[in-house]
Amino acid sequence: MIRICPSVLNADQDRLKEEIDRVKGAADFIHLDIMDDRFVPNFTYDESRTREIVRSSSLPIDLHLMVEDADHWGPRYAAMKDDGVFSVTVHFEATKELDTTLRGIGEHGVRRGVALKPKTPAEVLIPHLESIDMVLVMTVEPGFGGQSFMAEMMPKVSKIRSALLESGRESCWLQVDGGIALSTIEEAADAGADTFVAGSAVYRSEDPKAMVDELRKRAELGRK
Ligand code: DX5
Ligand code: ZN
Repeated sequence: MIRICPSVLNADQDRLKEEIDRVKGAADFIHLDIMDDRFVPNFTYDESRTREIVRSSSLPIDLHLMVEDADHWGPRYAAMKDDGVFSVTVHFEATKELDTTLRGIGEHGVRRGVALKPKTPAEVLIPHLESIDMVLVMTVEPGFGGQSFMAEMMPKVSKIRSALLESGRESCWLQVDGGIALSTIEEAADAGADTFVAGSAVYRSEDPKAMVDELRKRAELGRK
């Protein structure tokens, strides 16, 4: 099963509700990037603005936290479940107590995601797979949209896919984020990804909804 999650990072920030509506009926989730200007050199939304966006969204929200002190913020954002948060992904590099944090997120009934920056190896997650519902392999350095896809991350995706199979964790999703477009999605799917974030590919296209459909078809080719 393929999931497509448009990122609204580079969509029109003054009309986010409308921008989200443009992919309704095609996208599975909206990927919302939270940046604190510390973990990454960019800032997006604070907690209260995030809640507003989540509440106004017609699609469930996949929250990607690019913030320091993820042990604090992960469960706190997960508390927005009733506002429309479906999953919360923390960065491995930003946590000190990963298992406790994942438990805190899960207690709110949202899916527990863990993201890896390009330089962080797949192996760090092996002891935690049991408590993870989605692994996010970054295919760019986090912080900005519109960067080029790092094909050199594909062995990491494959390694995680194998580890999930070996540990009987097929229910865990495997997401890629950064530079996903018609030209790259098939390769990522072929490596083992099943959940795809696409920002500029979707929102820089004339018809975002049609682009989501196209991306899904292309990914399905890769998964075969
Ligand atoms: C980057 C963000 C991405 C970003 C992807 O740090 O995590 O979600 O929006 O944008 P594209 O698809 O343009 O690379
Ligand atoms: Zn993201």
